Amino acid sequence: MGTPARTGAPVTLTIDGFEITVPEGTSVMRAAAEAGIKVPKLCATDSLEAFGSCRLCVVEIEGRRGTPASCTTPVAPGMVVHTQSSKVKKIRKGVMELYISDHPLDCLTCAANGDCELQDMAGMVGLRDVRYEPGRNHFEQRFAVGPNPEYIPKDTSNPYFTYDPAKCIVCSRCVRACEEVQGTFALTIEGRGFESRVKAGAAADDFLSSDCVSCGACVQACPTGTLQEKSVIELGTPERSVITTCAYCGVGCSFKAE
Ligand code: FES
Repeated sequence: MGTPARTGAPVTLTIDGFEITVPEGTSVMRAAAEAGIKVPKLCATDSLEAFGSCRLCVVEIEGRRGTPASCTTPVAPGMVVHTQSSKVKKIRKGVMELYISDHPLDCLTCAANGDCELQDMAGMVGLRDVRYEPGRNHFEQRFAVGPNPEYIPKDTSNPYFTYDPAKCIVCSRCVRACEEVQGTFALTIEGRGFESRVKAGAAADDFLSSDCVSCGACVQACPTGTLQEKSVIELGTPERSVITTCAYCGVGCSFKAE
């Protein structure tokens, strides 16, 4: 489901007790943000079409069954939304537990440490413990010795960035950035459940031999350390970042300076 267009008449709704008026077509998540209310998210960004896959942004809406994703739900007149009910907090924590149960515990040595949305969201939902059995990515399988049919090695074929499938949460932000920002369609998702992963091209074995043009849109979109610039891995993340947008180009790529 795509991001609803914000083109229509004003719509007034209530979110966490605050009355807010936004254009028809605005998502509940965006309306909440405009009211200063942060809803946890992993698969949604301001620059990509909403996808509704991570289920971290669920909310309760009075008079509606279930807990819809706020990023793909358009506002409606008179809607009453709760973003911090005990029910949605419990669901978000459960979702984060599942993500972390199958994610490597190498934050202290990960190049994305301190610049990782998965880390941020775990903190935001108050995750302390994980009740589930660790998945295969939970440990440092990439250093496993000998043949391992489940082991998917890091892809370091691209000269500018690396892809580590063990850290991928399959939010598809990279796939959508490749399509929506670059229009290349080099990435796809294959497999289901714990087996699902991002793949560069249907026929290619790695990024270098795929249709990838090394634009970096996927790296920019990645919320974890899955796609990492090689320069960042070598130098480490800067203690301070300055993000600017070049005045001469509308692409919106970021420049990070130490
Ligand atoms: Fe809404 Fe992922 S941010 S489902």
